[in-house]
Amino acid sequence: KKNFTLAVVPGDGIGPEVTTEALKVLDAVVAQYGVTFERTEYDLGARRWHATGETLPDAELEEIRKHDAILLGAVGDPSVPSGVLERGLLLKLRFTLDHYVNLRPSKIYPSVGSPLANPGEVDFVVVREGTEGPYVGNGGALRVGTPAEIATEVSVNTAYGVERVVRDAFARAMARPRKKLTLVHKNNVLVHAGHLWKRTVDKVAADFPEIAVDYLHVDAATIFLVTDPARFDVIVTDNLFGDIITDLAAAISGGIGLAASGNINPDHSAPSMFEPVHGSAPDIAGQQKADPTAAILSASLLCDHLGLTEAAAAIEVAVTADIAERTGTVRSTAEIGDAITKRAIG
Ligand code: NAD
Ligand code: IPM
Ligand code: MN
Repeated sequence: KKNFTLAVVPGDGIGPEVTTEALKVLDAVVAQYGVTFERTEYDLGARRWHATGETLPDAELEEIRKHDAILLGAVGDPSVPSGVLERGLLLKLRFTLDHYVNLRPSKIYPSVGSPLANPGEVDFVVVREGTEGPYVGNGGALRVGTPAEIATEVSVNTAYGVERVVRDAFARAMARPRKKLTLVHKNNVLVHAGHLWKRTVDKVAADFPEIAVDYLHVDAATIFLVTDPARFDVIVTDNLFGDIITDLAAAISGGIGLAASGNINPDHSAPSMFEPVHGSAPDIAGQQKADPTAAILSASLLCDHLGLTEAAAAIEVAVTADIAERTGTVRSTAEIGDAITKRAIG
């Protein structure tokens, strides 16, 4: 297949700035292989919500669903109550399109700075569950604003949901040289969900005898992410733990400006969605200060998912070369995008 359709949701804050650069690189790279992306841009996010009160109307979601893939910048804005866009737009996309594998690779590129003195060879991927856990909205609040207020946020974990993401993580570990999988949870306290996850990993492990399986409580995992990140290969974890440890993973491996992600529907029953791990960064939005590398690497993951492996590799090679020559000189968002584009097609 040579002609793909792409739904683009630039979103809020730095989202539009970094998305522009990701599309610049993507278009330039795929053109070399005779591949095109026919783009439809969706005006979703804070502007739209203020104008119409809408976050993501069902009809628009069904339009988005018809595309081969989705590229998203970031959503969330200080002018909108926290949670409205995050839940009503971003999580609605992830849940409805069944993005049960939230893939978040971390590696330290040659010559990139890490805040760690001796990070070692860091190259791991977090397989974060994307459709369940405490994110499902299974909760409520009573007597809000009174001294007797009660708020609950009940994590939902199903045998079906846990097993499918665990199987995906094992399969990814099989395709990697070190063949190691670490389950991260908190089964010493969250005994209901935690034991389901642990039992599921133990059961699936029997089908993957070559994989070395490890378990860490999430608190201890944060220790090792800082003291010995090279020990990790594939990490499989629940939605909330995965959210938290992937910001930490980004911070130790070159910064949040480099961290890419894919919200994958491995069954291809709906389009997968690619976005940086970072958010809309309101503190630097509109100033051309954002690093677009995470968005550009997300476009590489997008190519990979669609089977455009050469294009995916070309983007990664160009980014790696750009990172290797970063000198500390401040470049604008567009300058970084231009430099990577030039390398990718040069
Ligand atoms: P954030 O990731 O937006 O920002 C955290 C810090 O990292 C800020 O100092 C920011 O300037 C910096 N940063 C982020 N991306 C950067 C980049 N590309 N280059 C340089 N610096 C960068 O997280 P936050 O401040 O917790 O959240 C801001 C908003 O974004 C909130 O509304 C939140 O809900 C939303 N959010 C959205 C997504 C998403 O759309 N996937 C992800 C995380 C947060
Ligand atoms: C991320 C973000 C989202 C998440 C929010 C904005 C819903 O933090 O993509 O990491 O928690 O998944
Ligand atoms: Mn996050």
